[in-house]
Amino acid sequence: MSSQPAIPDKQVEHQHTDKGYVPVYTTAVVEQPWAAYTAVDHNVWAQLFERQRALLVGRASDEFLVAQDAMGMTPDTIPKFDELNDILAKATGWTIVGVEGLLPELTFFDHLANRRFPVTWWIRKPEQLDYLAEPDLFHDLFGHVPLLMNPVFADYMAAYGRGGVKAHGIGPEALVNLTRLYWYTVEFGLIRQADGLRIYGSGIVSSKGESIYSLESDAPNRIGFDLERIMRTRYRIDTYQKTYFVIDSFEQLMQATAPDFAPLYARLATQASHPAGAVLASDAVFHRGSGEGWSQDGDV
Ligand code: PHE
Ligand code: CO
Repeated sequence: MSSQPAIPDKQVEHQHTDKGYVPVYTTAVVEQPWAAYTAVDHNVWAQLFERQRALLVGRASDEFLVAQDAMGMTPDTIPKFDELNDILAKATGWTIVGVEGLLPELTFFDHLANRRFPVTWWIRKPEQLDYLAEPDLFHDLFGHVPLLMNPVFADYMAAYGRGGVKAHGIGPEALVNLTRLYWYTVEFGLIRQADGLRIYGSGIVSSKGESIYSLESDAPNRIGFDLERIMRTRYRIDTYQKTYFVIDSFEQLMQATAPDFAPLYARLATQASHPAGAVLASDAVFHRGSGEGWSQDGDV
């Protein structure tokens, strides 16, 4: 008898995207098979939850910590999506839906535009606590869902979904620009609080190593948010980021991304991209990275 969780066999194809060669799963929404989680699954959740919460107090933005508490997520068991949805829907009109894994871009954007956040239903194995290459339940639920309780961030995510549908219609280059914005905000964003820099990006929040590295290492750049600059900047998918961009508030993010991006996409199409680790004369530099330990190639 195996105590391993049922890792989905519903992977339908591999798709070459700007994030590399990634598995894409069936686009169907699935019921969370809560009763099928094993003791091992619940224990992985508990270990990751406790480890990250301890690291994140004083490192994650106050908005993130407050939102996570308000949702009632606890380490005790893997949360039930239905129970979280009762709270989330009342707060901001968002719901979470279960999926098998990464979705094709247009399907993903359509969910966001309709205030549905797709959450991978399965959780990583005990030997993958520190790293796995694709999003699982811990990344999606612990990392992404709490901030959907925040009204401003909730609106940003829905606007991003509508923007994604639009960019998809404009073409692949527009999508590359928009995906960089998602990467450097939703996944790897930092925010400046009265008491210093804090994390809000889900990719950081769900990673032990990067929670520390992003704030405390001398190696990466920390640079003030600049929409057009971010849309020109390549990024890392297989190492910690070389550069983190810092917002002042979610209101700033909302305001900066409100204008029509169509003219911006047209202008960007004529301009070269910046390497992930570049520092430009026009940057508002909080910290200039030492570059220690950086791979010399592999920016996407
Ligand atoms: N304003 C963007 C557009 O016109 C939409 C968008 C909003 C994109 C917020 C990302 C985040 O395409
Ligand atoms: Co993510």
